[in-house]
Amino acid sequence: QLADSLYIINNFAREYFSNTLFNTEEGQNVGLSYFEERGFTQETIRKFQLGYSLNAWDAFTKAALAKGYNLEYLQKTGLVTIRNEQPGDNYRGRVVFPIHNQSGKVLGFGARILVKNDRAPKYVNSPENEIYVKNRVLYGTYFARHAIDKLNECLLVEGYTDVISLHQAGIENVVASSGTSLTQHQLRLIKKYTNNLTILFDGDNAGVKAALRGLDMAIEEGLNVKLVLIPDKEDPDSYVQKIGAEAFRQFIADNKQDFILFKLQISMQDAGNDTTKKSQLVNEIAETIAKIDKTEDFTRQQDYIRQCSQVLKIDEQGLINLVNKFIR
Ligand code: CTP
Ligand code: MN
Ligand code: MN
Ligand code: MN
Ligand code: MN
Repeated sequence: QLADSLYIINNFAREYFSNTLFNTEEGQNVGLSYFEERGFTQETIRKFQLGYSLNAWDAFTKAALAKGYNLEYLQKTGLVTIRNEQPGDNYRGRVVFPIHNQSGKVLGFGARILVKNDRAPKYVNSPENEIYVKNRVLYGTYFARHAIDKLNECLLVEGYTDVISLHQAGIENVVASSGTSLTQHQLRLIKKYTNNLTILFDGDNAGVKAALRGLDMAIEEGLNVKLVLIPDKEDPDSYVQKIGAEAFRQFIADNKQDFILFKLQISMQDAGNDTTKKSQLVNEIAETIAKIDKTEDFTRQQDYIRQCSQVLKIDEQGLINLVNKFIR
C-alpha cells in the first residue's frame, strides 16, 4: 500500500539523517554544533530524533535508491526532487525535524536552513501527500499526549523549536501549529486529550492576530481558551532558554489570561469612542459567548456575560438578550 511505503521511506530517512548528524564529520561540525548552540542537549536531540542532511547533491537519494526504494514514492515524500532531470536531495545542508503522528510514525519533515538568508526559505517542509496533511497535524502530539492528558491542559506554540525547548525545560504538554492558524481538525485532535487550551504566542501583532483567528473556532469546539503573550522579540523557545525553566513556569502562571476577555479588551481599545465600532463589538462578543455550549457549561457562559458587560459598560440583561438571539 502507498501509505505504508511512504512511512517506510520516512523512517529510513529519519535514521539516515540521524546517523548523518552523529556519525559524519559534516554532521557533527555543522548540524550537531548548530543544535548545541541552540541549547539542545544530546538527550533532547535523540528524543525528537533530529537529524542533518548533508550539503550534497544526492547523498540521501543514492542511499535510498540503493536500498531499492521507488523513485516515484521518494518524490512523493518530498525527500527527493528532480533538478535538471536528475533526482537529488531536497533538504541539502539543513537540520531536519521529523514530524510524527500520534503513535510516533514519521509523517514528514521540517528542514531548517542553518543561517537565515533572503534567498532560501528558513524552513522547507514536506509536501502534502497520502500521509502528511498539514492542517491535520500538530507537531509534538506524540511526545505530549500523556502530559496533556495528565495535566488536563494543552499548550499551543508556533514552532518546532518551541516544543523542543519547552520539553527540555520539563514542560511536556505542548504542541505546535507550525506557523499556521488552527484548523478544526487540529482543535479536535486537542479535544481528544483535554478541553483546556492555552495559547503561547509571540506578543507581536502577527502572533496576536494568528491567535485571535483561532478563537471562535476553538470556542465552538467547546474548548476553554487561555492566552499567554510572550514578550516582544522572543518566542517560547528563546524565552525559556533565556530565563530558565523555573522562571518560565512562573511567567506562564502569572500571565495566563482568559482569551475571550483578552479579545474584548483589545477590541475596546481599538474602538475608542466610536459608537458604531462599539456596537459592532457588542454583537461580536455576544456571538462568541453564544458559542459556549450552555447545556455543558452554563455557569461559564453566565460568568462571561457578567464580566463582558462590565468591560463593555452595558446592561447585563441587555447582553443576555443579545446572546440569546445568537443561540439557534
Ligand atoms: N515555518 C515554516 N516555514 C517558514 C517559516 C516558519 O514552515 N519559512 C513554520 C515552522 O513550523 C516554524 C513555525 O512556522 O517552526 C514558526 O515560525 P518562526 O517563529 O519563524 O520559526 P521558529 O519556530 O521560531 O524557528 P527558529 O527558532 O528556528 O527560527
Ligand atoms: Mn483527559
Ligand atoms: Mn512571530
Ligand atoms: Mn524561534
Ligand atoms: Mn518563533
